[in-house]
Amino acid sequence: MSGKLSGKVALVTGASSGIGEATALALAAEGASVVLVARRANRLENLLQRILEKGGAAITIVTDVTDELQTQNMLHQAQAKWGHVDILVNNAGVMQLGLIDGANTTEWRSMIDVNFLGLTYATHAALPIMKAQGGGHIVNISSTAGLEANVITAVYSATKFAVGAFTEVLRKENHSHKIRVTLIEPGAVATELGAQVTDPNAKAWAEEWMKSKTPLASEDIAAAIIYAVTQPPHVNVNEIVVRPIDQQ
Ligand SMILES: NC(=O)c1ccc[n+]([C@@H]2O[C@H](COP(=O)([O-])OP(=O)(O)OC[C@H]3O[C@@H](n4cnc5c(N)ncnc54)[C@H](OP(=O)(O)O)[C@@H]3O)[C@@H](O)[C@H]2O)c1
Repeated sequence: MSGKLSGKVALVTGASSGIGEATALALAAEGASVVLVARRANRLENLLQRILEKGGAAITIVTDVTDELQTQNMLHQAQAKWGHVDILVNNAGVMQLGLIDGANTTEWRSMIDVNFLGLTYATHAALPIMKAQGGGHIVNISSTAGLEANVITAVYSATKFAVGAFTEVLRKENHSHKIRVTLIEPGAVATELGAQVTDPNAKAWAEEWMKSKTPLASEDIAAAIIYAVTQPPHVNVNEIVVRPIDQQ
C-alpha cells in the first residue's frame, strides 16, 4: 500500500484492541509495515488478516511488555524482519481505579509494570536500533490523567505523570540523533480499558464519568498519531492533548 509512510516500519504495543488497534490500521493505511504487539494472539491474528486483506503489510509478535527480555526480543525480531524500526508506538496500558486506602497493591504493581516499565523497556531496546539507522520516532501514550490527578486515579495517574517525565528526558537526550519523540494525552476514549476496574465503587464512578460525555473514538487518537508521524523530518511534534469537546 502506498501512502505517506511507505517504506517505514512501525511497531505498536497494545495493538489487540482500542487505540492500538485503530493506530495499527491507520499506519498500515498510510503504507507502513506494521508490527502488531500484545498478549492476546487471536486478536492480533484477526487484525493481521484485516490489514493483509486491504493490501497492507504486517506481522504479529506476541509479547508481554512487562517482561524485559521478551520486549527486547520483540524489537530485535521486528528489525530482523524488515531491517529497520522507524516508529515505535508505546501504547499498551492497563487502568485500575480506587481509593488509596484499602487498594489492592497488586493492581498498583501491574499498572507500574505495564504503563511505565513496559514503555521504558521498549524504548531502551529501540534506541540503539534507531541511532544505528540514523533516526526514528517514539510515540508514548499518556493520558489527561498524566496532566491532572484526581481521586481514585492515584497510581494510574502516577504512571502517566511518569511517562510524561520520561518522554521529556527522552526527547532532550536523543534529538541530536534525529529521534523524534511525541507524547499523546487522550481524554475519554471509548475502549475496553475501563472493563478491568475491579473496585465496584470506582467502576460505577468511571462508568458515570464516561456517560456524562461523548467519548472519543480510538480512531480520533490514531489520527493524532498519524499527524505527528507524517510531519517532515525537521518537525518534532512533542505533545498532543486530545479531549472530547464536552470533557472539562
Ligand atoms: N480509553 C481511554 O479513555 C484512554 C484515555 C487516555 C489514555 N489511554 C491510554 O491508551 C492506551 C491504550 O488503551 P485503550 O484505551 O485502547 O485500552 P484497551 O482497549 O484496553 O487496550 C489496551 C491494550 O494494552 C495491551 N496490554 C495490556 N497489558 C499488556 C502487556 N502486559 N503486554 C502487552 N500488551 C498489553 C492490551 O492487549 P492484551 O491484553 O492482548 O495484552 C490491549 O491491546 C493505554 O496506555 C491507556 O492508558 C486510554
